[in-house]
Amino acid sequence: MGRNRTFPVEIAPEALLTTLVADERLVWAVSRPNGDEKGDEGMILPRSVPVRRETLAVRAQEVLHRNDMGGWTRAAPDLYPHQWSWDSAFIAIGLAHLDTRRAARELESLFQHQWNTGKVPHIVFNPEAPPDSYFPGSDHWACAAASPDAPPAPPYTSCLCQPPVHAIAALRVWKVAERNGGEEAGAARAFLREIYPKLMLWHRYLLSYRDPEDSGLVTIFHPWESGTDNSPRWDTSLAAVEVGDLAPYPRHDLQHVANASQRPTDADYDRYLWLVKLIKEAGCDEMSIYRSHPFLVKDALFSAILVAANEALLEIAGLVGGRVEDRALIAQWIERGRRGLARCRDPELGLCPDYDLRTGSALRAHTVAGFAPLVAGGLRPRRLAILRETLMSPSFIGHPALGRPLAPSTSPNDPGFNPRSYWRGPVWPVIDWLLWWAFVRAGEHQLAERVRESSLEQIAEGGFAEYFEPFTGEPLGSREQSWTAAVALDWLAHGPQREMRAA
Ligand code: DGY
Repeated sequence: MGRNRTFPVEIAPEALLTTLVADERLVWAVSRPNGDEKGDEGMILPRSVPVRRETLAVRAQEVLHRNDMGGWTRAAPDLYPHQWSWDSAFIAIGLAHLDTRRAARELESLFQHQWNTGKVPHIVFNPEAPPDSYFPGSDHWACAAASPDAPPAPPYTSCLCQPPVHAIAALRVWKVAERNGGEEAGAARAFLREIYPKLMLWHRYLLSYRDPEDSGLVTIFHPWESGTDNSPRWDTSLAAVEVGDLAPYPRHDLQHVANASQRPTDADYDRYLWLVKLIKEAGCDEMSIYRSHPFLVKDALFSAILVAANEALLEIAGLVGGRVEDRALIAQWIERGRRGLARCRDPELGLCPDYDLRTGSALRAHTVAGFAPLVAGGLRPRRLAILRETLMSPSFIGHPALGRPLAPSTSPNDPGFNPRSYWRGPVWPVIDWLLWWAFVRAGEHQLAERVRESSLEQIAEGGFAEYFEPFTGEPLGSREQSWTAAVALDWLAHGPQREMRAA
């Protein structure tokens, strides 16, 4: 593994280490100003250390080092002991500020398990993780290895996929290495040359197998593919899934959170596992799944990330001298994606909802995923203004009871809102990162800075939690979540004075 790079942050690392020792003894006592939630009563979460802003960079680095498994990083120490696809991409973005070679390695190790179709699996299972640490684990997915398109196993992979943040991450690695110069820049260019065809194959998979309709929107087969598992986005479509006979199964995930209310319900899990069973029965074959699967949804946020990732891919193609035909194709993909997102906008909601292919109807939930066109970028001023207005409205950031001006994953005005439950209300730093980055690209620097500052404050106070209660800022879900540490590092490297040179 390469040596650590300097911290391109506001404070010198040596100074940070001194303060760190004092902070280690502190613990976070859960504050519940309303006092009305069940569970978690007066509980002390020993690993959630409030991290003073000054120590943030060192602490973030430590989280990533503790979760470092050699050439890849586990998403979190207990709840997520494997390599997750979009987590890894965000992790590479953060690692780039510590060691660009290690950041590149994060993506390379994930892409070693790319399927022949181009699919990048949503989980690569760690063969050394304790067998009862995560369910459904490698044995549950082992059947995926029977597919002619699966990579050699072990390690086994799942046969789902997740939002394609990877090209964005690869470009970030390059930009930081280029700034550092010398051998590092040379190594990063070699990395780009190596990963470019793999990224091209991955995006081609999404634009073909997952969009046979040429709609510009990606079809997901499972809420896990969205990365926003129990979001109200999927309530209507999941309610229509009839669960058949399921063997009993463990909920290992519940051992790793302070209260079960922070995770999806058993009813959600029944549906998740039923969908997995159907996907396995279809031999993980996209055509068969498309023919018979009860959950076929066009995911707006996934599709928007693909548009932004295609923009990054186009830049990478330029850097590595990609074929002219490929560059033209990527440009078409970008246009196709933007057209698809424009078609799904809902003027009444001021958002861009997902779309259920089975019923032919829009899924009109009030969630942060509806800001997908912001993430895709390239918006006309009027359209940008509408989305900005919706985001600032009392339905999202302008809600009077919010602890900080950060978008809850689900609007408090949505009937499915729950401030403590995973994607049904909590604030997620990675989503804040996507919004921040979208604002930077749109030239909305003040807004971007507000998101960056507020999110860093939240992490400084609550630690590197997976997600946060939107009214109290209480850290929820897993602690020491790698991608939270990673986005914090990226934000620290982009103080307002630098105004996003690498963004
Ligand atoms: C989980 O296990 O919670 C994941 O979201 C599935 O990928």
